[in-house]
Amino acid sequence: MATRSLRFQLLAGLLIPLGIVACIQFSVAYRNAEVTAHAVTDRILLASARSIAEHIGFGDSGLDATIPPAALGMFDLGYGDTVYYRVTRADGRLLAGYLDLPAPPVPAPPSQPEYYDGRYHDESIRLVAVTQPVSLANGVENATVVVSETLYGRNAMSRELWIGSAWQQSLLIVIACVLAWLALRRVFAPLLRLSREVEARAPDDFRPFSVAALQAELDPLVRALNEYMGRLRAQLDAQRRFTENAAHQLRTPLTLLRTQASFALRGADERERAEATRAIVATTQQITRLANQLLSLAKAEPHGQPPRRDAIDLVATTRDILVEHGRLAVDRQVDLAFEVAAPAPAATVRADPTMLRDLIVNLVDNAVRYTPAGGQVTVTVDRDPDACVLRVEDTGPGIPAAQRALVFERFYRVPGGDSEGSGLGLAIVKEIVDAHGAAIDLREREGGGLVVAVRFPVAEELLLGAGVAEAGRTPREEPVLGPR
Ligand SMILES: Nc1ncnc2c1ncn2[C@@H]1O[C@H](COP(=O)(O)OP(=O)(O)OP(=O)(O)O)[C@@H](O)[C@H]1O
Ligand SMILES: [Mg+2]
Repeated sequence: MATRSLRFQLLAGLLIPLGIVACIQFSVAYRNAEVTAHAVTDRILLASARSIAEHIGFGDSGLDATIPPAALGMFDLGYGDTVYYRVTRADGRLLAGYLDLPAPPVPAPPSQPEYYDGRYHDESIRLVAVTQPVSLANGVENATVVVSETLYGRNAMSRELWIGSAWQQSLLIVIACVLAWLALRRVFAPLLRLSREVEARAPDDFRPFSVAALQAELDPLVRALNEYMGRLRAQLDAQRRFTENAAHQLRTPLTLLRTQASFALRGADERERAEATRAIVATTQQITRLANQLLSLAKAEPHGQPPRRDAIDLVATTRDILVEHGRLAVDRQVDLAFEVAAPAPAATVRADPTMLRDLIVNLVDNAVRYTPAGGQVTVTVDRDPDACVLRVEDTGPGIPAAQRALVFERFYRVPGGDSEGSGLGLAIVKEIVDAHGAAIDLREREGGGLVVAVRFPVAEELLLGAGVAEAGRTPREEPVLGPR
């Protein structure tokens, strides 16, 4: 959860590298402190050795080394270190000090002082050896002075140096963290203000949010939010209009139903009551159809989930629907025919079965309903390389070119018609076409009438399996469904 916080991510992005740098700094500072402490204590060792060496002289009993108190006193830094020394002649004979002190790795140290580490009385010590030429009667002899010291002072000094610099660095890190935190607070303040504003918004307030006080980087987000609110508002308006229209459409048949019911109640004789009851049944069917259309529309509308994609044989489905509509065609004295190529094309489409049915039913219903008695409705299922085409053709009045885009709108009906309907059929068809990635086209039929063509994309896997029906085939007309 914490990793989703931008503030946390920014701080972590800053502090982790800072921590790594601090660790490196601490170890470098530790090393530096050690080097400094060693350099200082080595210098004191050397000064002490030199001071002893300078006091080697030639006395009555030969070579003689007196140890000046200052040479040992300079070590007294309060850490309780012990100092050992040794002065030897060139042949190794002891002049002063402890003979068993570790000897220098080079027996006769050259003119340069020789520093080395060793152990004495079970303690680690640091030693320096210097060579001091002493003039004798018969020439010059090299005496060797070794001075050593235990390591308490040296270690304490390097610890103190390191702790001092570690403190400084820690303080810097803490200050950097506090500054970073304050900067983040300042940077996030406008964003938090915006989110409070969004939270406090009333659900019907679609005024755009201002980008004025925000950082430029947040502009796209706020603009997108504002655009989204615009779309939401349009959608809500459309829904409100739809509800109003639907209520209006329902009110008319319901009023009719009430009138018919009171007729049935007040009917003078059996015949009148039966007539009123038949009218009630017809009106109820009308209301049921409207309710079903509203449901179809709700189902076909985009709602985040793609429709089912069953493999459906378009020829068989269309044939079934036409058989069901035979009765209506007979009633309206329209010749309803189904044309399929022989052999039948491989017309399998991927679709939601209920939606596909709604689509075909609405197109056939329109064609049969709007074609005057004696007219002809022909339904064709065809196949070309990349689509299955359902075509519904009628010899009715057609739709004027200017109206062809409008008829897909909900509740829109071409003015002047006298048939009943609510103007939802083609709106449902359009939603279904869109949901399936299909395309619909309205055209004028040669010789008058309307041609509606729906092109369904052919699913890739189905394309591989079945080839396009042979060219040059002859159209075959199926058994007559309407009157001939
Ligand atoms: N085949 C057609 N021939 C002539 N006009 C048509 C045809 N199909 C549709 N129309 C016109 O398009 C309009 C919209 O059709 P749509 O199917 O959406 O609604 P409807 O048929 O009026 O009502 P509903 O289908 O909801 O009962 C119709 O009112 C009609 O004027
Ligand atoms: Mg219709």
